[in-house]
Amino acid sequence: MKLLEERIRKDGIVRAGNVLKVDSFLNHQMDIELINEMGKEFKRLFADEQIDRILTVEASGIGIACIVAQYFGVPVVFAKKSQTKNIDGDVYSSKVESFTHGRIYDVMVSKKYIHEGDRVLLIDDFLANGCALLGLLEICEEAKAHVVGAGICVEKGFQQGGDLIRERGIHLESLAIVDAMDSQTGAITFREQ
Ligand code: G4P
Ligand code: NA
Ligand code: NA
Repeated sequence: MKLLEERIRKDGIVRAGNVLKVDSFLNHQMDIELINEMGKEFKRLFADEQIDRILTVEASGIGIACIVAQYFGVPVVFAKKSQTKNIDGDVYSSKVESFTHGRIYDVMVSKKYIHEGDRVLLIDDFLANGCALLGLLEICEEAKAHVVGAGICVEKGFQQGGDLIRERGIHLESLAIVDAMDSQTGAITFREQ
């Protein structure tokens, strides 16, 4: 999506350690006009799909998912993160290992809000190693819900997440794929799509 790529080039900051800061428009301060356009684009990309709910992970996924959901007219469910061990039987849960933050946590969704046969669209801000998305997939599997696809704002194409998700035959749409970035020069290379 050209609009997003241009914005990343203009306002994104490449940090050492392959981290792309998009705090000024996506991840901390949020540009709603831009995110509205992203919502329309996801609607176009998943136009042929019947979708019952959107599933994301707290925290940064929530705001984006809520705007996207308005174009689909469906509820948003967000998986909660927890470091605690006392997960009861009323939730679906999955372990997630965050490489960026070097920690392991559980993500969970109440059994009340995801059901067998539900057609689910996954939405998230970043796809890096794919651990968060794989956690959501596991939750959907456990719930016997059907994952229609995954919509990602920014995929870091040089990390393994995108390949892992595509290898599973999941319809993955990333609005911008960063194939390379250089923290010295700030240069960013996007994949042609
Ligand atoms: P993965 O889920 O794709 O495996 O990614 P990883 O564990 O490596 O990333 C951990 C967190 O860092 C995720 O947010 C992810 O969205 C975010 N992230 C990964 N790479 C980048 C990046 O280059 N720039 C920015 N801004 N974020 C990145 P989180 O900690 O799960 O959640 P949240 O509370 O921030 O939403
Ligand atoms: Na996130
Ligand atoms: Na994040």
